[in-house]
Amino acid sequence: MTLSRFFWIGFLLIATIGLIHIIHALTLGLQVQTFHTSFTANKLREGDLRLLFLSDIHHFSLKKLKKELQKLTAPIDLILVGGDFPHTRLPEFLQLLKCVPAKWGIYGVEGNHDEFSFLQKRMPEAGTLLNNEGVMLREDFYLCGFRDPWHTQVDLEAALKNRKGEPFTLLLAHQPDQALEMALDQVDLMLAGHTHDGEIAFFGLWRPALTFMHVTSYNQHFRAGWRQGRNRLPVLVNSGLGCHLFRSFTRPQIIVLTIKKADQS
Ligand SMILES: [Fe+2]
Repeated sequence: MTLSRFFWIGFLLIATIGLIHIIHALTLGLQVQTFHTSFTANKLREGDLRLLFLSDIHHFSLKKLKKELQKLTAPIDLILVGGDFPHTRLPEFLQLLKCVPAKWGIYGVEGNHDEFSFLQKRMPEAGTLLNNEGVMLREDFYLCGFRDPWHTQVDLEAALKNRKGEPFTLLLAHQPDQALEMALDQVDLMLAGHTHDGEIAFFGLWRPALTFMHVTSYNQHFRAGWRQGRNRLPVLVNSGLGCHLFRSFTRPQIIVLTIKKADQS
């Protein structure tokens, strides 16, 4: 085979791969995916809970988000926002979330792109910003949240301070890395965002940004979905809604998580 034939075969191959990724970016990469998932919890005694979990909104279209939220039919107990709020449109975003009826309201944590003092001022209009703190939402359910470690110290002791008894403990954090860096023995489940699922995933298999861009210290480990922290701590990583470049073979995402009471029989 001549050198020029090699060149043209290589060129066509790269062009085809590029085209497939561009087509994905212009189609599915723009469409919000609502990921319905569940987790069974032995410590939950008073019945199932349904959570709506959003993260990394950045510049994502609130119109598109509204459309997706309007499709939710099952009742929601709690809305969680894992940081990186849409700052310039914060009042509109919070207003949008308030349209989703949720028994316990809206809780959020700071992301690495957020300005804490600004969030602290505006968030009470709609919900609660968890500042290394937690709240007993039910006798068997404790919710706590971390500040972002790129801005300040994460304080686990303070986050767990209001815990009474042995409730199911849910930790909301922006960055998932703490799941491998800290001993979160009293936490039963951690929710995080931040990695954007790498935004561009080569055929959905490998995300260069997670390896080369210092988004996480753990390479591909904290891509979106169900992951594990230290001592097999379950961690649900949200792909997030917004992105810095474009998405290909990853999707903007919202998560509906049902925490199910374990069958006691
Ligand atoms: Fe983000």
